[in-house]
Amino acid sequence: MARVLLQSLTKRFTDVLAVDAVDLEVQDKELLVLVGPSGCGKSTLLRMIAGLEDATSGQITIGGRLVNRVASKDRNIAMVFQNYALYPHMNVYRNMAFSLQMRKVPREECDRRVRITAQILGIEDLLLRRPAQLSGGQRQRVALGRAIVRDPEVFLLDEPLSNLDARLRVTMRSELVKLHRHLRATMIYVTHDQVEAMTMGDRLVVMRDGRIQQVDTPRVVYETPANRFVGEFIGSPPMNILEGQIVQLQTGWEFVVGRLHIQLANEFQEACQQRVNQPVHLGIRPEDLHLSKPGDSAPTEVRLSCEVSVVQLLGSDSLVELDCQGTAVMARVDARRACRMGEMIDVSFSVERLHLFDAATGQRL
Ligand SMILES: Nc1ncnc2c1ncn2[C@@H]1O[C@H](COP(=O)(O)OP(=O)(O)OP(=O)(O)O)[C@@H](O)[C@H]1O
Ligand SMILES: [Mg+2]
Repeated sequence: MARVLLQSLTKRFTDVLAVDAVDLEVQDKELLVLVGPSGCGKSTLLRMIAGLEDATSGQITIGGRLVNRVASKDRNIAMVFQNYALYPHMNVYRNMAFSLQMRKVPREECDRRVRITAQILGIEDLLLRRPAQLSGGQRQRVALGRAIVRDPEVFLLDEPLSNLDARLRVTMRSELVKLHRHLRATMIYVTHDQVEAMTMGDRLVVMRDGRIQQVDTPRVVYETPANRFVGEFIGSPPMNILEGQIVQLQTGWEFVVGRLHIQLANEFQEACQQRVNQPVHLGIRPEDLHLSKPGDSAPTEVRLSCEVSVVQLLGSDSLVELDCQGTAVMARVDARRACRMGEMIDVSFSVERLHLFDAATGQRL
């Protein structure tokens, strides 16, 4: 069992609070992805779990054992870094066997583990090559192999794919997910790439400025972001955010920004009641906007008339920038839905797909 429990974990460098009172439970055999912008404290958090950095305060428990004072080598973890740090003068076999030899693992056992691992990773044919004779993706596999041979309880992976080209990243991403299933180990995977986070994790942890913003499955984080930051960070292109205010009507409430008025559904009643004539931020994802020719629409749909400002063809989809009565919004639509710059078009969306955030705190309403 390798549950990892962090309690009030904090790291302060002289003038930076890199990790701020983080509470987190990583379940046994879970693939947990830690995601957030550069400098938010992901690597520092991972390095504390690995024992490469002392915590300023708080507790780290791995498999029921408090490890704050346990040396890194005795924590039964393995870490893979962004720069693979392979030993350049050793061949692949020796790179993988090295840590086992240091631990005085018997020669036959060591050989068995290196060969099985090489087979899992599809690098059996490369065992006699040196790192300089490998491609980036192959080096990445060796770095993973070095961690796997040790059979750790917990894998800590810090942006292990960021040196690879886009295509290889996609391949390695799914290989890592398969590997996780095969190894049945606890993995904590750090990335600043929200696509990687969405596609790989059983659960996501979104961090900002040393603090956890939300912990949940990718679907829940995407559909109900805890705050404006998470809403904008997860999803590409980012969620449209309109900064306006709530206005009370006889029949209900409206969100108003400039000349744009959006009638809000009953599910926002409580939030609206407390915020009449106050600023709020309204979020809508580009993929939740639909374009149509002027005509009829389903009753639950809000429909607005817009002008097409810019069209970017991505392939299967197009990103369409719209001028919605003075407010710019981005829509992601099927590329077969042809539209031209300057064209007047209707954009519709379902009110259930709207997100409201408090203007001051950014919290979801
Ligand atoms: N040894 C150090 N001394 C002082 N400040 C540090 C040290 N290491 C990290 N920091 C600071 O702590 C904060 C968090 O850094 P960290 O490396 O954990 O970020 P990160 O989320 O991993 O970012 P990236 O995505 O760029 O790798 C940053 O502000 C960084 O400048
Ligand atoms: Mg980092």
